[in-house]
Amino acid sequence: MKKIKTAVFPVAGLGTRFLPITKVIAKEMLVVVDKPLIQYAVEEAKEAGIEKFIFVSSRGKNAIEDHFDSAPILEEALRERKKFRDLQKVIDSQLDSGQAVFIRQHSPKGLGHAVHCAHNLVQEEAFAVILADDLVLAPKGCLKQMVDAYEQSDGNMIAVENIPPSETFRYGIFDIASQDGKKIKAKSIVEKPAPEVAPSTTAAIGRYILKTTIFDNLKNAQAGLANEIQLTDAIQNMMHETPLTGYHYDGTRYDCGMKIGWLEANIAFSLKDPEAQEETRLMLKRMVKELA
Ligand code: G1P
Repeated sequence: MKKIKTAVFPVAGLGTRFLPITKVIAKEMLVVVDKPLIQYAVEEAKEAGIEKFIFVSSRGKNAIEDHFDSAPILEEALRERKKFRDLQKVIDSQLDSGQAVFIRQHSPKGLGHAVHCAHNLVQEEAFAVILADDLVLAPKGCLKQMVDAYEQSDGNMIAVENIPPSETFRYGIFDIASQDGKKIKAKSIVEKPAPEVAPSTTAAIGRYILKTTIFDNLKNAQAGLANEIQLTDAIQNMMHETPLTGYHYDGTRYDCGMKIGWLEANIAFSLKDPEAQEETRLMLKRMVKELA
């Protein structure tokens, strides 16, 4: 069995779409209901069996590291006040010492460069990459679905979904050779093509299982679109020896890198939260009535 034990979380981005809040709050710390985006990503990774968590961060993002640390004073206070449910939430948000590694991407040279920053730390044959701003609501975590499917696969795998034709310029887009159930065999992949030249409307979303050999490719990578080192280009460049599979995951993705996606995620997750769902439903009904 091919065990995927390591996940890389690129969290160095500037988050300019959310300025001014991202002046001091890392984009990955934006809250959806009561948890930061990065915690959802870590929980999804844990569900998939990940044991080592590598955060590729940048200056000014220390809150991410603090979030996964223990908080003894807070924990003690909650214990004394017998607020055990709250205490559990604090404990559940921790990563054990030695499980989490924080490294820095010194300059914003793109997603491919960010992933390459982790090359000394990944020991296994294949590893996962999770982009926290793609938040997936699914009964079984998106990465877990992929890890299970990867057992009968090899090469690189990316979660995919169908997107409207006008949005191809936001995603890595698959040129499809064939499809077998949820799995797509790729002929090629291209980063953010214009709708007129896009080979399909099958888009990569921020969940990857990659062969460690991608690091060799990223090491010598040339800057691509937007003058950045693109992960998509490295995946494409190694396709002659490493096949690429697209995996149509079950679930709904919210693009929390965009204001409207983030807002929608808050509503969707709130409707699933036993503590908040009833009030959320009433609020929505009221708002819809006001709009009518
Ligand atoms: C990145 C990737 C792109 C992928 C997308 C998924 O783009 O480069 O191929 O489709 O994530 O969210 P970004 O959203 O970082 O611009």
